[in-house]
Amino acid sequence: MNNSFKTTLLMCVCCALFSCSGKQGEADYSVIPLPKSVSLKDTACFVLSPSTVIASGIDSASQANARFLSDELYDFCGIRAEVIDGGNDTSNVIIIRSYAVDGNAPDSAGGEAYAIDINPDSIVVTGSPAGQFYAIQTLCKSVPAGRFGSVSMPSAHIADYPRFGYRGMHLDVARHFFPVSFVKKYIDIMALHDMNALHLHLTDDQGWRVEIKKYPKLTEIGSKRSETVIGHNSGKYDGKPYGGFYTQDDIRDIVAYAAARHIEIIPEIDMPGHMQAALASYPELGCTGGPYTVLTEWGISKDVLCPGNPASLNFVTEVLNEVMDLFPSKYIHIGGDECPRDRWKECPKCQALIAAEHLDTVKSAASREDALQGWFMKYAERVIEARGRKVIGWDEILEGGQADNATVMSWRGSEGGITAAKKGCDVVMSPNTACYFDYYQTPNPAREPLAIGGCITVKNVYDWDPMPEGLKEGEREHILGAQANIWTEYMPTGDHVIHMMIPRADALCEDQWCDPSQKNYDEFLKRLDRMRALYDHLGYTYAPYVFNGEDR
Ligand code: ACM
Ligand code: ZN
Repeated sequence: MNNSFKTTLLMCVCCALFSCSGKQGEADYSVIPLPKSVSLKDTACFVLSPSTVIASGIDSASQANARFLSDELYDFCGIRAEVIDGGNDTSNVIIIRSYAVDGNAPDSAGGEAYAIDINPDSIVVTGSPAGQFYAIQTLCKSVPAGRFGSVSMPSAHIADYPRFGYRGMHLDVARHFFPVSFVKKYIDIMALHDMNALHLHLTDDQGWRVEIKKYPKLTEIGSKRSETVIGHNSGKYDGKPYGGFYTQDDIRDIVAYAAARHIEIIPEIDMPGHMQAALASYPELGCTGGPYTVLTEWGISKDVLCPGNPASLNFVTEVLNEVMDLFPSKYIHIGGDECPRDRWKECPKCQALIAAEHLDTVKSAASREDALQGWFMKYAERVIEARGRKVIGWDEILEGGQADNATVMSWRGSEGGITAAKKGCDVVMSPNTACYFDYYQTPNPAREPLAIGGCITVKNVYDWDPMPEGLKEGEREHILGAQANIWTEYMPTGDHVIHMMIPRADALCEDQWCDPSQKNYDEFLKRLDRMRALYDHLGYTYAPYVFNGEDR
């Protein structure tokens, strides 16, 4: 008997076995991302209803997960299952257990594995705190979206774990600023997709968005621009002052909200380029001394941090230390991308540093200024490693020839990632061929809101494999995972960000979580239809193109 026929049969039996007030629904474990294994059993189904209770172990993580499950089930299908103390002897119970309680705990990939055992009387969820959380996501996505009196859940054993340990999304809050409430919504959507890393791009030429107590002008001046260019650098401006930043309390709030959902926030302070908002605040940190203004159009500024000025190095040390006080993440992102060398070539201080550090003799750098970039990134790396953290940067950090300990985020295609993995560096794959969710989503931009350009469809994302070809055993282990980036030049609102994020994030999360052997685009589209019902129910402003055939 094939699995889908068996499921239908079991569901019919289940439905005949009980009746409940309110609409009755049926669970389907074919969720996104697809679990590694779902074995249906020949027993009756579990009936989720308002008389179901949720019991957890005595550890606080299981208890938090139990409360999360109760709330999320209610939001998704309208059934409120109460969390109770104890309850292991009760029937009609969902039990959340940590590994210590379950001798058959799955051998986890990175501690994120989980198992769900569904029987007529109970559902037992087993895993580490993170594993339990992903199990809860699977359970909640399996129930139908809407308002139901009961949901029949076929008896089954589900065992699951992720393919990659790093499953990220990036959000640029510099080009446009998004309130804390939206960042939390973004985190909710990431959690729904079993992702665990939110890379927050906090600073850029067009705005500095995080309060730094030692440098108050970064937000007093650097978080505001006088106006914003209209469209693709049209030369016309909207005339409206624009600004916003997160206070340190806001950041603590966001970090805690994400941590409760097993998501680490990785802050990015982009340096030494993309720094014009900081230079507008502290002009002495630039090679020419300014004056500078916070950029009002898109693109790359030639005005960058002056590494030859000791005050700039002190700035980097103090800013990164405050950032590390705020963000407990393993990784701190120091950018490193798109840093023009024009000012350094003309700057006596930078040239003196190049001479003093013999940077003109660095063989692995293409120019002395490239070597200066490498030297600067190494300086920032020392600040970060002194606190026991790890540096991550865009793939340009390979260019200065000194980034041996850094984890490389490969964005200009996959080449940077391949080179880094061959050198023994860890890599997050984020190529602009599959992971730039600021690109159009269909070949016909006229039907879409204005975007930066390009075209990355849901299918392009789905067909992509984060593991590049051509790596040997030993090199492949350096590919930690994958991330999509949302640069927000053309996304002034949170609803617009979600339009660019979903459903490409659905495709991405299967790249991140599933083995290639599990992936099948047509089957994925069927699962996506059920996610769409959930998005409709939750009011998410997803892009419609793949659902109405406009993505081809
Ligand atoms: C980038 O897109 N500049 C990393
Ligand atoms: Zn300089």
